[in-house]
Amino acid sequence: MPVSTWREAMERALYGPDGFFVREAPASQFRTSAHVSTLLSAAVATLVHRVDAALGHPDTFDIVDIGAGRGELLESLRIQLSDTRFRLTAIEIADRPAGISADIGWLREVPAGTRGLIVATEWLDNVPVDVVRRDGAGVARLLLTDGTLGPEADPETVDWLGTWWPDFEQAEAGLTRDRAWRAALAGHTGLALAVDYGHTKDQRPFFGTLTGYRAGRQVPPAPDGSTDITAHVAMDSLSTGESVLISQRDALRALGITGARPPLSLAGTDPRRYLRELVAAGEAAELTDPGGLGGHWWLLEGRGVDVARCFP
Ligand SMILES: C[S@@+](CC[C@H](N)C(=O)[O-])C[C@H]1O[C@@H](n2cnc3c(N)ncnc32)[C@H](O)[C@@H]1O
Repeated sequence: MPVSTWREAMERALYGPDGFFVREAPASQFRTSAHVSTLLSAAVATLVHRVDAALGHPDTFDIVDIGAGRGELLESLRIQLSDTRFRLTAIEIADRPAGISADIGWLREVPAGTRGLIVATEWLDNVPVDVVRRDGAGVARLLLTDGTLGPEADPETVDWLGTWWPDFEQAEAGLTRDRAWRAALAGHTGLALAVDYGHTKDQRPFFGTLTGYRAGRQVPPAPDGSTDITAHVAMDSLSTGESVLISQRDALRALGITGARPPLSLAGTDPRRYLRELVAAGEAAELTDPGGLGGHWWLLEGRGVDVARCFP
């Protein structure tokens, strides 16, 4: 394996020929909110209806899922949103999976002129980043995959760090994620939602968060394609527009997903409904757990629509 920067290693190991995400379905390696429950898609469907109203019910309403995995969220949304005006499109580096519904589009890039909702759950944490570390003189240098320090970080990266992550020994420079997010939204009208684990300026980790996952376990990140390579997202640097940044727990509660258990009396009168609601309460509890998925961030950004109207 050639020694390289971590950004190059992520590009090659995750998305190169036979890369981790080209080979592996994300759901086979770790559990995201999209895998836990259809409650997430129910919440997204509520957002879709609000954005649809804010856009005046256009003839075609795009629902674009960036980093769609194997299309799990879109398949679930497809069932919940049966109106043929809704056009569902996955944006994925991995090939179109066999068996996915024929009316779900599968593209490599966000098409120009989308109108509706863009969603990206746990995409940005996999967008390659430069990992930087301070040398003995305090200069930010690129960390290489063999643990040594490479060249100095370029001026734009130094600038980004100065603004967004000034205090660190090791950090992941969010510039590439900011650019990826802004490029994805460039031609979009409506709302965009990024859901990811991350941090904000008041709580950046001093040593960064670069790590790996394989087969459901957190492992050291390997530059050879044998593990996922990920780092938490600097969520507050992404948006240049009108936006709301809120925890998944608060976002789901605002959309009516509370995790409340059904009353025990229901077990006597309608045991099937009681069981159904009990299972849903368990799933909602997992999605809103502040120490787990509920601690993820929701960034909602409006493009030509008032975010407050879609997410009051
Ligand atoms: C962690 S998985 C998340 C899958 C799914 N969204 C979920 O929440 O379960 C990240 C996905 O993003 C895809 N991905 C990463 N960069 C991408 C890009 N630039 N364009 C399209 N897909 C990308 C990967 O192939 C992978 O399937």
